[in-house]
Formats: sequence, C-alpha cells, structure tokens
Amino acid sequence: MANVQFKVQPGGTIKGRIRVPGDKSISHRSIMLGAISEGITTVTGFLEGDDSLATLKAFQDMGVKIEGPDNGNITIHGVGLKGLQKPNKPLDMGNSGTAMRLMAGILAGQDFDCELIGDASLSKRPMKRVTAPLRAMGAQIETAEGGMPPLKITGTGNGSLTAIDYVLPMASAQVKSCVLLAGLYAEGKTCALEPAPTRDHTERMLNGFGYEVVSEKIDSQQMKACLVGGGKLTGRHIDVPSDISSAAFFMASAAVSKGSDLVIEHVGMNPTRVGIVKILQLMGANITLENAHEVGGEPVADVHVRYAPLKGITIPEELVALAIDEFPVLFVVAASAEGQTILTGAEELRVKESDRIQVMADALQAIGLDALPTADGMVINGGIQSKQSAAIQSHHDHRISMAMTIAGLNAVSEIVIDDCANVNTSFPTFLELINQVGMQVEAIKEL
Ligand code: S3P
Repeated sequence: MANVQFKVQPGGTIKGRIRVPGDKSISHRSIMLGAISEGITTVTGFLEGDDSLATLKAFQDMGVKIEGPDNGNITIHGVGLKGLQKPNKPLDMGNSGTAMRLMAGILAGQDFDCELIGDASLSKRPMKRVTAPLRAMGAQIETAEGGMPPLKITGTGNGSLTAIDYVLPMASAQVKSCVLLAGLYAEGKTCALEPAPTRDHTERMLNGFGYEVVSEKIDSQQMKACLVGGGKLTGRHIDVPSDISSAAFFMASAAVSKGSDLVIEHVGMNPTRVGIVKILQLMGANITLENAHEVGGEPVADVHVRYAPLKGITIPEELVALAIDEFPVLFVVAASAEGQTILTGAEELRVKESDRIQVMADALQAIGLDALPTADGMVINGGIQSKQSAAIQSHHDHRISMAMTIAGLNAVSEIVIDDCANVNTSFPTFLELINQVGMQVEAIKEL
C-alpha cells in the first residue's frame, strides 16, 4: 500500500452540516448475519471501508453471492447456518479485529477447515480471548505463538459445538459476539456474561433476523446475553446508521475550536455507544441531539455541536466501554480543555489497532502537550497550546491518524502524520469532510 502522509495546517473554525459513513460494527454484522440467514438480505448505508469489505470478501470466498457495494447498497443471498463452503485460500481479515474475532465464532461451527490471517497490526493482537471460550465449546483452533493470528480452525466434522455459560474476563463486544455466534452452532443454551455493558449490535441484529437473544441486567454493571443453538435466521432489510465513532472526530473538532457550529446527521445513538457524547458534555461541550428516531432497531439522531469552553474531568469508569474507540480523539480534546483530565480503567486501549495509550501519549508529547501514560489510562494537563510541529507515526492505526489531525486545530504549526492510508479502514471520506468543514489537511502520496 502506498504511504500516505497527512499535512495538517494549524487552526480552523468548524462549520457545516455533514453525514459520515455507515457504522463499522453494524456493517460487519450485516454481512455475517445476512450470509448465514435464509433468503435475501438487503443493506443500505453499508460502510465501504477496507475492514467491512474484508468481511464481505471473506463470505464471497465461502461461496456466498453478494451484490455490491454500490453507493452503500448491498444484496446478500443468504445460504443458511450450514451453507458456507470451504474457502480455497486463507481468509484475509486485513486490519480488522472485529472481522477476525466474530468470524472465528461462526467458523468454529462449520464442518470444514479454514485459516484466518491479518495484516502486521492484526497479527500482533491477542486472540486467546476468543480461542479460550471456543475451545471450551469443543472447537479445535491453532494459533501462532502467544495466541496471535493466524487462526487455523479445524471443522467440526458435522458434529455441533457444546453450549457454554461464559463469564467474560474483560468488557469486549467482540468476545461476547464470538461466543454468541458460536452458540448458534451449539446444542443447548449459550450465554455470555459481561463485566460491563458493551455494544449490543449482535444481539439487536440477531433478534431482527428472527433469532431470539435474551439479554438481562445482572446488577448495575453486569449484563448477560443468551441464545439457544440450532435455530434459523431469516433475511431482512438493514439500514446502517452513520458511525458514531467516525462522527466523534467531528464532534471533537467543533468542541475544541472557537466559533464552531456543526451538525452531523443520522448518527447511530445506540445507548452502548454514546460515551463520547456523555464525556464531552461532562467536559462542558454544547451538544444537542435533534431529530431523534429509530431505524431498523437502532436509535439515530442529528448531533449539533457548538463551541463552548471545556474543562478537564475525571472520566467515570462506567463510561469507558461505552466510548472505547473514542479515546484517541478524547485525549486531544482533553489537551485543549482547561485543567486536568484523568482516565482510568481503560487497559483495553493497549490492545487495539495500536497501543493507544502509549502511541497517543508519545504523539501529544511530540507536539509539546502534557500527556502522561499510566498502566490503564492517561493523565492530561490541558489548556496549553501545542508548541512545536512534529512528524507523528500512526502505528497502523486509523484512529491515531484521525485524532492527530484534529490536534491541528489548536496547534501553532504544521503537524505531519505518517502512514495514514489506514484511514480507509473505517472512514474513506474523512479527508474530504474535514476539509469541507474548515480544516486544511493535504494528503501526500509516496509511491
Ligand atoms: C467492536 C468492539 C470493540 C471495538 C471495535 C469494534 C465490535 O472491540 O473496539 O472497534 O464491533 O464488536 P472490543 O470488543 O475488543 O472492545
């Protein structure tokens, strides 16, 4: 892949009305569940980013007929729970942890062998968190040393998996979803108990496909989701809302730059994803939700952000899982807020597409800001302007590339970010939109 550098000019006021692309988590799941359902599934608003396209390609490699994407429209000809065919080469999940971990759950239940591979970043990400429950369900899976990809999954030889009552060691929607998807292929009732609520798109979408998932609150934090294996999914229409995790970069941009006034339309407002809005509001941001309604079982709204002075806060730990992908840009916001921001309970950030605690602390320090990494979070003393220009490395992580672009708004000189082609994994139109609303960012391609 050609290296793409972002050259970010300092300053800017953010104005306009925009729509960001479809939700990545929902896009992945629309392909997966559409493929293993019976009948036709149509999707609108599908994210045409590298991650969700890797999932689409993998199901085509397993014999599923999928038309599109064409302007976010897809038609999937479902083959049923047992209709996938053995691929004739390893399935390449690219940069996507979601694709690899969720598909491991589906593939553990097939009667053929297959292999899941990924790029340099994904090949360093922990997979024990999914291989442990899948092995406990009777799956046979080999990994590279340390439980890393590739995953070699041996077919069940027409038998089924064993149902499990699994207590997740960490709050992870990917692990929960993997266990539930494997549970479709198990005899009896499979449950996943999570220590804190995480995104529930798998549960909502399975219910939408006519496959009952029962979710129950165990106490103020723990949630349990259960399903009984051996049923069937029925094809349907899915309207994918805009991704709140992509909208987050724009909410942050308007929140930190004086005079800004921005509306982001049709953003997914699932209660398990709205941590970014709650944290920004606690910091003093002026955000209103307009035109709230539901599309296909997911709440959406237009998010209106007007600049207001921000203050540092201690981020409540119960909001961490609800904003887990937004911390790179929240660190940038914290650096422009007056006073100290403290994040704890977020050790999962160390095993994302990059170690987002270390990489963001290094990047913010490189432009002269006060960010101190801790084992499970960060302490940021905000309100000072970045003092120097710097060349930043994205470490194969799309959200680092985009977060450090937003840092340009309160910088005094140019920021150059190396290795930004990865923005295409989740947000192919980022550059166009960020320039449209008032920043000056140029992409330089080195062949
Ligand atoms: C996702 C779950 C989260 C999130 C990721 C998408 C999903 O990962 O970070 O971007 O679609 O289920 P974890 O389950 O590892 O927290």
